Amino acid sequence: MSALLTVDDLEVHFTARSFTGRKRVIRAVDGVSLEVAEHEALGIIGESGCGKTTTGRAIVQLEPATGGSMHYRGKDVTHLTGSARRAFNAHVQFVFQDPMSSLNPRMTVADIVAEPLRAYGRWNGRAGRDRVSELLDLVGLPPEFGSRYPHQFSGGQRQRIGIARALALEPEMLVLDEPVSALDVSVQAQVLNLLMSLREAQGLTYVMISHDLDVIRHVTDRVAVMYLGVVVETGPADEVLDDPVHPYTAALVSATPPSSPDEKRARIRLQGELPSASNIPSGCRFRTRCWRADEICATVVPPLSPKGDGNRAAACHHPLDLAAPRLREGIATP
Ligand SMILES: Nc1ncnc2c1ncn2[C@@H]1O[C@H](COP(=O)(O)OP(=O)(O)O)[C@@H](O)[C@H]1O
Ligand code: SF4
Ligand SMILES: [Mg+2]
Repeated sequence: MSALLTVDDLEVHFTARSFTGRKRVIRAVDGVSLEVAEHEALGIIGESGCGKTTTGRAIVQLEPATGGSMHYRGKDVTHLTGSARRAFNAHVQFVFQDPMSSLNPRMTVADIVAEPLRAYGRWNGRAGRDRVSELLDLVGLPPEFGSRYPHQFSGGQRQRIGIARALALEPEMLVLDEPVSALDVSVQAQVLNLLMSLREAQGLTYVMISHDLDVIRHVTDRVAVMYLGVVVETGPADEVLDDPVHPYTAALVSATPPSSPDEKRARIRLQGELPSASNIPSGCRFRTRCWRADEICATVVPPLSPKGDGNRAAACHHPLDLAAPRLREGIATP
C-alpha cells in the first residue's frame, strides 16, 4: 500500500489575546506526523482538547497550517488556494461531528446534497436529480426525502444526509470528525455499518476522529494516539488498544470499560488535568501526569520511534514492555 496522504510535523498554532491585550499562542497541533495509505482507515484518538479536530480541519484546508507540510499523492498540499484547493477538496471531504449545525435548515435535503455538484459546475438538470436520488439511496434514505428539510429528520438520518453530501463529488478520502458521537447509542452502530460498507463499495480512505475506542476498534485498521498536539503512539488498532506501549495510551484504554466481564484490567488514574495548549511542559509533554516520569522526561523530547516488529511506534523514554502480560490480566497497577 502506498501513502495517499503524508503529514509531516504539522503545526496549527492560534494566537489569542486576553482582555489586557496580552498575546497567547495556543499550540493546538504542535508537530503531528501521520501517514494514511490508500483504502486504509486511520483512527485518531485522544482526550478532548488534544488537537484531533484541528488536525482533521487542517488536512481538508479548513485551518491553515502554521508549520510543517502535507502531501497528497506525492504533491504538496500544505497551503492550497484557488482552483488547486477546489480540486483537492473534491478528493478529500470533511464530515462534521454535529449533523444539525452543518446542514442549512432552510435548504431541502435535495438542495443540500446537490450543493457540491452545483458549486463544482457538475449539475445538469435531470442527471443531477438522478445523482441526488442515487446518493440518498447510497446512504439508505428513500429519494422522496429529498423534498424535506433537515429538522424533519432524526440525528442518524441527518448524519446520513451529511455523508451523502460529502460523497457527491466522488471523493477518495473522508475525514470524519466524531461522526457518531452526537447520535444515540442505538443508531451509532447503523451509521458505523453504513460507513464501513461505503468504504468497501466506493474504495474510500478514511481518517476517523473519535474519542470512543470501541468505535475506533470497530471501524479502523490503524490508530494514531494524540496527546497535547502530538502523536504519541501509532500502530494497528487492535494491537495498540490491546497492548499499548505508551503510558498515555495505557491510561486511555484503562479508562474505558472492558468489553467482556471476564476481562480484568488495571485502572490507571492519571494525575492532574490536561495542561493548557498555551503552556506545554518541557521534554515529554505527558510527564506532568505520567507515573513513569523521571529526569530525562523533563528535559529530552522523546521521538516517535519504532517498537516491536516495526509496525508500531511510540514517543516515550520508558515505554511499557510490549507483549508482557499486563493490562488485560490486570496485574500492573502503577
Ligand atoms: N479556532 C481556535 N482558536 C483558538 N484555540 C483553538 C481553536 N480551535 C481549537 N483551539 C484549541 O486547540 C486545542 C485543540 O482543540 P481541538 O482540535 O478541538 O481538540 P479535540 O478535537 O481533540 O478536542 C484546544 O485547546 C482548543 O481550545
Ligand atoms: S517519556 Fe517519560 S513522561 Fe513521557 S510518557 Fe514516557 S515515561 Fe512518561
Ligand atoms: Mg474535536
